[in-house]
Amino acid sequence: MDNRAIGIFDSGLGGLTCVAEMKRAAPAEDIIYFGDTARVPYGTRSRETILEYAAQDIAFAASKDVKVIIAACGTVSSALGDTIPDNGIPFFGVVHPAAQAAARATRNGMIGITGTPATIRSGAYERAIARISPDIRCIPTACPLFVPMVENGITDPDDVVVQSMVERYLEGIRSSGADTLILGCTHYPHLNEAIQRYMGDDVTLISSGAAAAMAAIEHLKANDGLAGRECGTVRCFTTDTPDMFRENAHRFIGGVDLTVEKVSVDTLSDLTRGRT
Ligand code: DGL
Repeated sequence: MDNRAIGIFDSGLGGLTCVAEMKRAAPAEDIIYFGDTARVPYGTRSRETILEYAAQDIAFAASKDVKVIIAACGTVSSALGDTIPDNGIPFFGVVHPAAQAAARATRNGMIGITGTPATIRSGAYERAIARISPDIRCIPTACPLFVPMVENGITDPDDVVVQSMVERYLEGIRSSGADTLILGCTHYPHLNEAIQRYMGDDVTLISSGAAAAMAAIEHLKANDGLAGRECGTVRCFTTDTPDMFRENAHRFIGGVDLTVEKVSVDTLSDLTRGRT
């Protein structure tokens, strides 16, 4: 048994889809969540910048005495590829767990992949799927406007803006006949209803954040690392204002009690320079 917290981070609010799954599947766990809301989005930035931010995010999570770290961010996970941080803390990204879940789910061997421009450019999901099953055909599509829509609460499936963006980005995947769709950015499950409606009920949506949460739980189970208490806490840190974070987080994981503290971007940079 291990009562230390699980560290989960993302560029913003998307990783809360991972927190929600963690709360559902392992409610006893304490969670430390970091959302870099002052610098979101990551997905339209260069790989160098994403890796620099990722190193800071990981250093911050590691500084909180966590037992496992989840990069609940498709953009960071795909930029890191197979590179594992060398801090000795078990580390999970979203790419491999989501690729595995999608490969298990597909019946016709065709998987649509959505993600930020950086994620799709990296080809990380295709590589992960090819390793599991080289015969699966992947149809990747970048959806650059989904993240700003989600961060601004534009997710209503009846909203014409939402419907037209979903159609614009997913038309190609829908017409390809793919029966499984990876939501390769952790923000996208907030658009689940609109996406499912457009793709049809026969298409299985894979939430990359949820898949990563399940992979971390499996790891903890196998290593006798789950917490032994009734109900865990969720302590959040944000680089923008806590009030704004709280308000937005409430929209996404309404039923979950959480506390929010501010951490400055300077503190993050100091961590990777070894100053704190
Ligand atoms: N939630 C993130 C992802 O999974 C990042 C979105 C962004 O910052 O562009 O890719």
